[in-house]
Amino acid sequence: MVAAAGRGERMGSHTPKQYLALGGRTIIEHTLATLLAHPRIAGVLVVLAADDALWPGITELNGKPVRTATGGATRSASVMAGLHALPTSVAAHDFVLIHDAARPCVRKPDIDRLIERAGQHEGGLLAVPVRDTLKRANADQCSVATESRESLWRAFTPQMFRRGALTKALQDASSAGIEVTDEAMAMERAGFTPLLVEGAADNLKLTTTEDLAEAEWLLSRIPASEGR
Ligand code: CTP
Ligand code: MG
Repeated sequence: MVAAAGRGERMGSHTPKQYLALGGRTIIEHTLATLLAHPRIAGVLVVLAADDALWPGITELNGKPVRTATGGATRSASVMAGLHALPTSVAAHDFVLIHDAARPCVRKPDIDRLIERAGQHEGGLLAVPVRDTLKRANADQCSVATESRESLWRAFTPQMFRRGALTKALQDASSAGIEVTDEAMAMERAGFTPLLVEGAADNLKLTTTEDLAEAEWLLSRIPASEGR
């Protein structure tokens, strides 16, 4: 599933960021091309904003189905809507990978590793250990303490969980009024321990205009053997 129902407000562009072009293709087209080139991904459900006028109407890529659903006001509402819209051929115990449309630089070897490792566990996510020293700021933006980075990871996507367990975890968090920022947070709340699968640090989530040039450069360098 590709979450693409956001407005990209921090990008400050009129066009939602997933439709900005990088090297001749839109960001979402790069993302879909990589996912659907993967032999273990059977198809993609793209979650779009209700007022999306730019979706190019793709229904098939690499001979695999591409479906769409309408998302909600938050990322978790969009993912929940997508889970409900998945076809019945996706059973409750089947694994679903949830990926941000705004992460076009994800690489095939990372998807391989995620499917391999998280599939032997109760699910998991691509992540990267925190490498920088972490500072605690006061109200004047002055550093008052140094925090330990030990055991801290940055959570990326794809995140991979079983359809049934993830649907329940997201519904339970929503009923409790808790806004989860990723799928793993809902699963942790439900008592699961998602496996952190170390991935490439350059699987960036394109957030501001500064990220665009870096992503364009990265995309031009990712070899075809890595899935594009
Ligand atoms: N997303 C979604 N539904 C929402 C909000 C976000 O499907 N209601 C998707 C975005 O399209 C994006 C991914 O979740 O691919 C990660 O979210 P983020 O990077 O925050 O994207 P936006 O919400 O679009 O950007 P911003 O927060 O700057 O407005
Ligand atoms: Mg957002």
